[in-house]
Amino acid sequence: MPLRIEPSGQACGARVTGVDLAQPLEPATIAQIRAAWLEHHVLAFPDQAMGDDDLERFTLAFGGFGEDPFFAPIPGRQHIAAIRREADEQSPLFAENWHADWSFQAHPPAGTCLLAIDIPPHGGDTLFANQHLAWEVLSPEKQSRYADLIAIHSARLPYAPDGTYGAKDTGRSMDIRPSEAAFAVQPHPLVPAHPETGRRGFYSTLGYIIGIEGMDQGEAVALLMDLQSWQGDDRFVYRHAWEPGMLLMWDNRSVLHKATGGYEGFRRELHRTTIAAWSGS
Ligand code: SIN
Repeated sequence: MPLRIEPSGQACGARVTGVDLAQPLEPATIAQIRAAWLEHHVLAFPDQAMGDDDLERFTLAFGGFGEDPFFAPIPGRQHIAAIRREADEQSPLFAENWHADWSFQAHPPAGTCLLAIDIPPHGGDTLFANQHLAWEVLSPEKQSRYADLIAIHSARLPYAPDGTYGAKDTGRSMDIRPSEAAFAVQPHPLVPAHPETGRRGFYSTLGYIIGIEGMDQGEAVALLMDLQSWQGDDRFVYRHAWEPGMLLMWDNRSVLHKATGGYEGFRRELHRTTIAAWSGS
């Protein structure tokens, strides 16, 4: 079956057909998918009859498992977490703010895979914002302001014991495990070159970024707030609509993502793996 790649027509994203992900992939197919992933940043594979074994095999083919703190894996698996919301759940939506997964790590994941398990009949789209575009169309004045900044990342706002998903977060069906480890900090360039393509783009955003090295905190937060509204501007966004049986993979180094609601009264569940940082081979 030839692989067919149809761009979304939006700021990023493509739909990939002609491949059965319930079967082991040939090296040539893996290389084709990897090239499409780097070009389109978000790939959707519809109509897959995949289970958790297939999700794990797919993740291993693209670089192995990332390290997933603050989530308990689903029973019987070490590397799969459930993004879940019950039909009657009242807690605030999980991951409703722009972010790049685990950007507070020293070696954050290259990508993330989400497999549709239970998809509501409407709502629950995932939004992606292309951060290469957000950088490339920025004015030269702003580019020179941001180009050499070092961002300070931390998981403390969401995952510390007193954070968004800490002790005060009750009634959530997802198995989130806040801890003191969330207070650690990690610097990363604000506008790194993508390790595989060399293309520059903003990496992560306010939330996981809590400050800028050498900058007064008030000034840093004002800059990051201003930047965040730019990073998520509509012209950089791809809105992904889920279908049952769909696998999605995205490049955490080139896009931000966030969850949306609009499916009250319906259950939603996705199985998630992260793809380890690229080792350069
Ligand atoms: C996530 O940020 O991993 C979840 C995205 C979603 O639920 O759409």
